[in-house]
Amino acid sequence: MIQPYADPTAATIKIAPSILSADAARLGEQVAEAEHAGADRIHVDVMDGHFVPNLTFGPGIVKWLRPVTRLPLEVHLMVERPDDLLDAFAEAGADTLIVHVEGAVHLNRTVQRIKSLGKKAGVAINPATPPVMLEEILPDLDLVLAMTVNPGFGGQSFLHGTLPKIRKIRSLIDALGSACDLEVDGGIDPETAPLVVAAGARVLVAGTSIYGSSEGVAGAIRRLNVRAEPA
Ligand code: DX5
Ligand code: ZN
Repeated sequence: MIQPYADPTAATIKIAPSILSADAARLGEQVAEAEHAGADRIHVDVMDGHFVPNLTFGPGIVKWLRPVTRLPLEVHLMVERPDDLLDAFAEAGADTLIVHVEGAVHLNRTVQRIKSLGKKAGVAINPATPPVMLEEILPDLDLVLAMTVNPGFGGQSFLHGTLPKIRKIRSLIDALGSACDLEVDGGIDPETAPLVVAAGARVLVAGTSIYGSSEGVAGAIRRLNVRAEPA
């Protein structure tokens, strides 16, 4: 059962605002606002116009944001040939680099490269990709990002069909006794957050429901911050 602030001993949920939905004309302020409101990390969506149809940020954004916040910056690489970009984003100040299982041809090599750069390694998985694709790489990961929409755009509706997969990934992580984060991305709002938390997610990426909220950033983050009771 999930309740806001129900049990202080229960697992804490982390919130990762996605700057894709922030006001780009005042990005620094919007990131600072999220930090003051208790966000745990900042999610930077990198899209190349090939792996996904949209085109967004390059390493320059990470470099500019680095001095603006003390929060970890996680970079979600929705790109073809992610290997070509790892060094640039690492150098710009990213803390976590997330590549897609569908986009990295030599996934093990890519993950080892991320770790050799001194960064946390994450792997994202699209809604139509089965969780078995994660099994071999899981012991090497700091984070799994389960997509709850098809990547490419903010503001899409949550795909409820991804819930069984979140549960399956949770059980794969738990079976390993791993501290790997399980993060979800896409359509996360106060209605869907309890569902993904109940399924085993512990980090929630949210763009529209934070930066598009009429309650403002702080109110929106408070409303997302459900807690999971121990099983
Ligand atoms: C989608 C991106 C998400 C996006 C989520 O491809 O990976 O991080 O910002 O946006 P919302 O929360 O609006 O669904
Ligand atoms: Zn993302």
